[in-house]
Amino acid sequence: MTTFAKVADWLHVRNGLIAGKSVGFVPTMGALHDGHISLIRRAKSENDLSVLSIFVNPTQFNSTSDFEKYPLSVETDLEKAEAAGCDFALLPDRAQMYPDDYRYRVSESTFSKVLCGAHRPGHFDGVLTVVLKLLSLAKANRAYFGEKDYQQLELIREMARSFFLETEIVGSPTVRETDGLAMSSRNLRLTSEQRQLAPEIAQTIAHSLRDKQTPQFAKEQLESKGFKVDYVEDHVVGSPAMNRRFVAAFLGEIRLIDNMTESDAKRFSGATP
Ligand code: PAF
Repeated sequence: MTTFAKVADWLHVRNGLIAGKSVGFVPTMGALHDGHISLIRRAKSENDLSVLSIFVNPTQFNSTSDFEKYPLSVETDLEKAEAAGCDFALLPDRAQMYPDDYRYRVSESTFSKVLCGAHRPGHFDGVLTVVLKLLSLAKANRAYFGEKDYQQLELIREMARSFFLETEIVGSPTVRETDGLAMSSRNLRLTSEQRQLAPEIAQTIAHSLRDKQTPQFAKEQLESKGFKVDYVEDHVVGSPAMNRRFVAAFLGEIRLIDNMTESDAKRFSGATP
C-alpha cells in the first residue's frame, strides 16, 4: 500500500500512472473497525484499485473536546488497511483540506435539519463539505459508506446527484458486534459498564419494530435503562423509499447512533432484551 501525505503527490499518480483504472474509495476518520474493513474489501472487489482516506474532520464536530478526544490510531489503521488489500492511503492535513479556512461550504436545507442535524447544528455542513473535497481528490468511480450513518449516506447520495458528481455513492449494510451493537469508532471510548449496556440500543429498536411499538415507547424504554436519548424517530427515506427507525442516545458523554428498517429488525440477531 502506498501512503500519500501530500494531495499533490496523490493527484499526480491518479492523473498519471492509474488514470485508466477504476477506483473504489473509502473515506474515514480513522480508528478503523471491521465495518471500515468490510468497506475496503468491497471497494477492492468491485474496482481495479482501492483508496482509503484518514482525516479527522474538525468542521463536523460540535465541540472542541469531542474533536480532541476522537480516537487516533493511524499506524494500526494503515496496517489493517494494508492487510485488507487496500492499495493507497491518503492522509491529508487540515491546511491541505481547508486552504480557504472553511469559507466555502456545502449546506443542505431539509434532511440535514432533522435527526442528528437538529441536535448537532452545522454537523452536516462539515460532513458534506469535506466529502465533496475528498471525492474531488479521490476521483473515484465508487465511494463506499456504511448504513450505520444512514442520514449521512442519504445526504451524500443526494449531494452527488445535485452536483452531477461522477462518483457512484454505494451504501453498505451496518456491521454489528455479536451482541448487536453497531460498530463505531466511538465504541472504543465506552467504559466496560457502558459497553455492556450499549447493545440495548439496537436490541430495543429491533424489538420495538418487530412488536409494532411507537418510537416514543422505544425512547422511554431506553431512558429507563439509563440512556440519555436525543431522539427515536421514524422517517421514510432512500430509494426505494422505506420506513426506517432512527435513534441517537448518550451513554455518559458518548453519543451512539443506529437505525433499522422493519426487515432489518426481523433479521437482527443480537440477543433480545
Ligand atoms: O463517517 C465518517 O467517518 C465521516 O463522517 C466522513 C464521511 C469520513 C467525513 O468526515
